Amino acid sequence: MSDKPIDNLAAKNPQDNMQANHSKNVGSLVKDDVDADKRQFLVMATAGLGVVGAAAVALPFVGSMLPSERAKAAGAPVEVDVSKISPGAMITAEWRGKPVWVINRTPEMIAELAKPEHLQKLSDPLCNVESQQPSYCKNANRSIDDKNLAVIVGICTHLGCSPSAKMAMKGDMGENWTGGFFCPCHGSKFDLAGRVLKGSPAPINLVIPPYKYLDDNTLVIGEDVTDSKKAAA
Ligand code: FES
Repeated sequence: MSDKPIDNLAAKNPQDNMQANHSKNVGSLVKDDVDADKRQFLVMATAGLGVVGAAAVALPFVGSMLPSERAKAAGAPVEVDVSKISPGAMITAEWRGKPVWVINRTPEMIAELAKPEHLQKLSDPLCNVESQQPSYCKNANRSIDDKNLAVIVGICTHLGCSPSAKMAMKGDMGENWTGGFFCPCHGSKFDLAGRVLKGSPAPINLVIPPYKYLDDNTLVIGEDVTDSKKAAA
């Protein structure tokens, strides 16, 4: 066996040389393919990182693009479907981050609100503190056109707790209770028009927010009306 370098042997035999070149080319092609694959992988990986980076940058932006919740909290009007509130029941909506009670008062409940013996128990039965309701709700029921639906901000005017509903007459609130709300924090009591009972630490009636009717079944809380006749139409 010769100990000459293989390259020299290959140079002497053109066919072998071609094969050698072919082998080299194949090797080169394979290497190029591998490099191309590597390049493609790196490009994709870099692109992937770019997407992740873009997403990471975009997330705070997406977060900042949820203005509807923020707008709601800032005071955007809220539509409320009142069609499913059965007589004597209530629902709690949210407006400006506050609970707003919508109460479907029965004729019996309404009748209790106007009784002289009930009015005597109240600190401000005629709602003379102007700040606590829109002018179109300054009436016996504290509602637009004296309607049976009550719309009341459920935050105690003492120190801001949220009172509990005590809709049933009598019961655990005593023989003389005609339905309303009880604030467990310091014991304030309110009737079903949100008027505060005498002897409560809360100094004034609960707030009635601005609201109007879109139709018989839909309220908009947070939108004022100056013409209650139109709102009730
Ligand atoms: S916060 Fe309601 S009674 Fe004090």
